[in-house]
Amino acid sequence: MESPFKADILKGKVALITGGGSGIGFEISTQFGKHGASIAIMGRRKQVLDSAVSTLQSLGIKAAGFEGDVRKPDDARRVVESTFKHFGQVDILVNAAAGNFLVSAEDLSPNGFKTVMDIDSVGTFTMCHEALKYLKKGAPGRGSTNGGLILNISATLHYTASWYQIHVSAAKAAVDATTRNLALEWGTDYDIRVNGIAPGPIGDTPGMSKLAPDEIESKARDYMPLYKLGERWDIAMAALYLASDAGKYVNGTTLIVDGGLWLSRPRH
Ligand code: HXC
Repeated sequence: MESPFKADILKGKVALITGGGSGIGFEISTQFGKHGASIAIMGRRKQVLDSAVSTLQSLGIKAAGFEGDVRKPDDARRVVESTFKHFGQVDILVNAAAGNFLVSAEDLSPNGFKTVMDIDSVGTFTMCHEALKYLKKGAPGRGSTNGGLILNISATLHYTASWYQIHVSAAKAAVDATTRNLALEWGTDYDIRVNGIAPGPIGDTPGMSKLAPDEIESKARDYMPLYKLGERWDIAMAALYLASDAGKYVNGTTLIVDGGLWLSRPRH
C-alpha cells in the first residue's frame, strides 16, 4: 500500500533499528528509508542482516547492518558507535528486538522469564543508554535545535492478562514504564522524545506465526468482535507519524495500533 506521507519527511535523518532485519522492525526500516532516512540495522543473525540490507539498498536506501545482541552491553555500545561512525549522526533509535514463546507460568523456568526480560526490557534500556550521547540536543553530528527520538515497540498483553505470556507481559510493562520515565527525564534535559507503539496481532511476522496458529485465530473472532489482523505497514505508518515533525508534540505515550482489539468484549 502506498504511504500517505511525503517521501522526504525523514530526509537527512539516521535511524538505528534493533531487530530491524525481520518482521515489524524490517518494515519500519523500509518505510523510514523510503521516507528519506539512512538505516542502521542491529540483529543477531548475519544472514538476516545481510539480506535485509541488500533489499534496502536495492530500493535506493542507504543502509548498513551491524551484528549484535541487545543483551550484551558491549554489543550495544559497539553498534551505536558503528552507526555514528558510518553515518555521522544518530537521530532515531527504534527498539524492535524482542523475544517470545508461549509457555504456561508453571512450565516457564525463571531463566526463561529472565531471558525475555533481558531482551525486551533491559535490552531496550541498554540501547537507550548507549544512544543518549548521540541523541542529545547539540550532540555530535546534530544541530543544537532539536534532540533525537526513541521509539519502543511494546504490546497490549499487559493491559489485562494474557495466557502463557507472563514473561512478555512483564517485559512490555517495563518497556512502557521506561518510555514514560525517559520521556520525562530526557525530554526535560535533552529535548529527546520517547514514545512507544503497541501493535495488535500483525500478520506475516515471526511473532504471529509462533504465537497464534490459525485455529486460535478463527476462535478469537467469536469472542473478540474487533479481532482482525493488522499489517506490518500499519505499524510502520504509526512509527513514521511519531518520528516525523507531525509527532513533535507527542512525548511519553505508547500509541496502540490494534484496530481496537484490546477493548473487545463479546456481544451479549
Ligand atoms: C519454554 C523456553 C522456550 C520455550 C526458550 N526457553 N524457549 N522455555 N518454552 N519455547 C527458555 C529456555 O529453556 C531457557 O531457560 C531460557 O529460555 C533461555 O533459552 P535459550 O534458548 O538459551 O535462549 P536464546 O537462545 O537466547 O533464545 C531466547 C528466545 C529468542 C527468547 C527463544 O531466541 C527468541 O524468542 N527468538 C525469537 C524472536 C521472536 O520471535 N521475535 C518476535 C517476538 S514477537 P532454562 O531454564 O532452560 O535455562 C513479540 C510480540 C509480543 O514479542 C506481543 C504478541 C501479541
